[in-house]
Amino acid sequence: MTAVLPAPPPESSFQTEFAFTPRDFQTIADLLRRRAGISLPPGKAALVYSRLAKRVRGLGLASFAEYCVLLTGEGGAAEAQVMLRALTTNVTRFIREPHHFEDLRRLVAEAAPGLRAGGRLRLWSAGCSTGQEPYSMAFAVLSELPDAGALDVRILASDIDTDVLETGRAAVYSDEDLEAVPAHLRPHWFDACAGRDGWRVSEAARSLVAFREMNLNAVDWPMKGPFQAVFCRNVAIYFDEDSQNRLWRRFATLMQPDACLYVGHSERVRDPAFSACGLTAYRRTTEEARP
Ligand SMILES: C[S@@+](CC[C@H](N)C(=O)[O-])C[C@H]1O[C@@H](n2cnc3c(N)ncnc32)[C@H](O)[C@@H]1O
Repeated sequence: MTAVLPAPPPESSFQTEFAFTPRDFQTIADLLRRRAGISLPPGKAALVYSRLAKRVRGLGLASFAEYCVLLTGEGGAAEAQVMLRALTTNVTRFIREPHHFEDLRRLVAEAAPGLRAGGRLRLWSAGCSTGQEPYSMAFAVLSELPDAGALDVRILASDIDTDVLETGRAAVYSDEDLEAVPAHLRPHWFDACAGRDGWRVSEAARSLVAFREMNLNAVDWPMKGPFQAVFCRNVAIYFDEDSQNRLWRRFATLMQPDACLYVGHSERVRDPAFSACGLTAYRRTTEEARP
């Protein structure tokens, strides 16, 4: 995903309106790393300027130095959330990387007899953005288990950004959003919204998904697992290497042996608690995982 970002222009060409010094950049980069584990190399200065200049203008400030005072001062936490939202991307779509959902169907089919005998299935979309990923997981579950709502099946959908979680909970998507869903499946998984544009995810799929605010870099995670599958795709790519490695280790502690971890197409997991089992898919090994 970083590959699609434009190459930074020379400093003078993008600082047309507000002064933006290397020190301002460092303050913003440090804050982003501390809050979310996200790494901003110096080459991203132009990107930071372009994403935040509108905010600096909207606040009536004269420079990025003033913006940094606001960010680091009392009450800066709320502004840091706005900044984080501006600097991260929420790009997602239904059934992104279809092979992961095929694999999930296989996993669900294997788990079905145990579930019917009273077992549980716990799945997690970590960094779920506006909900297309966890709902795609729900569609895969329901394809194999149409009565999943009557069984002990839950999908946790978490993100650091409360705005995207609201969209996920509303579960209403446009015609354009639905383009990634095969036409013959649309009537099955979506209902037309009465009296307005858009399509709402079916009640059967919605009932399986719970949206929660959660920072993957927070010291404490509220859930205990164990999960049979974790989707964490196109999220860790923005993290520095230490944060990535810590994340894989923490997932391992919450996953049962043989559980699957799915990551984004340009992400790789290097941890003895996981072995590659497909394209950007990793199986939890029996290696003991300590946090
Ligand atoms: C590009 S989207 C990926 C959405 C989905 N997983 C997919 O692949 O289609 C990245 C998401 O990660 C979230 N995110 C970034 N840093 C995070 C963090 N530290 N904790 C939790 N979520 C984070 C962003 O808010 C954003 O919604």
